[in-house]
Amino acid sequence: MKNNYYHENKNEITLFKMAAEQRVPLMLTGPTGCGKTRLVEHMGDVLGREVITISCHDDLTSSDLVGRFMVTGGDVIWSDGPLTKAVKEGAICYMDEVVEARHDSLAVLHSLTDHRRTLYLDRAGETIPAPDTFMLVCSYNPAYRSSLKELKPSFRQRFVTVAIDYLPADREAEVLVNEADISLPVAERLVKCANSIRNADDVFHFEPPSTRVLVTAAKMIASGASELEATEVCVLAPLSSDGAIASGLAELAAAHLLDPETNNSNNN
Ligand SMILES: Nc1ncnc2c1ncn2[C@@H]1O[C@H](COP(=O)(O)OP(=O)(O)O)[C@@H](O)[C@H]1O
Ligand SMILES: [Mg+2]
Repeated sequence: MKNNYYHENKNEITLFKMAAEQRVPLMLTGPTGCGKTRLVEHMGDVLGREVITISCHDDLTSSDLVGRFMVTGGDVIWSDGPLTKAVKEGAICYMDEVVEARHDSLAVLHSLTDHRRTLYLDRAGETIPAPDTFMLVCSYNPAYRSSLKELKPSFRQRFVTVAIDYLPADREAEVLVNEADISLPVAERLVKCANSIRNADDVFHFEPPSTRVLVTAAKMIASGASELEATEVCVLAPLSSDGAIASGLAELAAAHLLDPETNNSNNN
């Protein structure tokens, strides 16, 4: 198993390379656990660049991004934040769930995401032009939205935006085989099960089960869990705390999985 193996869905690897070549920032959108972070790690390997990840949250300040003066042993010294480090090192700066960050914290990105490609450290009195290899990549999940948290359209328009989704069934199963030590038929059943729940999403209104939870279920199976057990604890239990919905989903899921009693898939 390669470390940062990434199975391409459409043309996201090509688009990522083009954006890197043209030195324009990239925005990845898509549901949770669909492979956004994995794609960035993979592209770090492909392009031979370090990836510096910043997990965004609503307390994130611009100082958390660019750095601050710190007192150490009586001296006051400037300490670079992760964004400044990424600019100086010509790395890929990956801002995960950027929609969580406050708009004023993101203002520092403006001069980096237009023709200037420059970071202005007002407090340290420094101006740092980004080397050609510096790339800003952000991600967020547009389906998970609260009215308070929206990226400004003017911010979004600074990026090339690539939408990622769950892989088609046959390729998602290949990912599971690659990530966990399970056979292809087992992986195919897990994906079928997930897709039946994903299709019921319109009725139930929850965040659909991701490739991530399927990988976890596959790993539990590799350690000896039955398909039903693994699906229960990795896929179903995290979905909904409503008992009625949970048992409806359990039935839906079980129809696609191997029954340990009969060793038959329940829908055969
Ligand atoms: N296209 C893909 N290729 C390879 N692995 C994938 C892919 N999509 C999802 N995965 C698996 O799912 C897990 C979760 O993906 P991740 O990149 O963390 O999702 P996101 O960042 O979109 O929430 C990964 O660790 C990997 O095991
Ligand atoms: Mg992620």
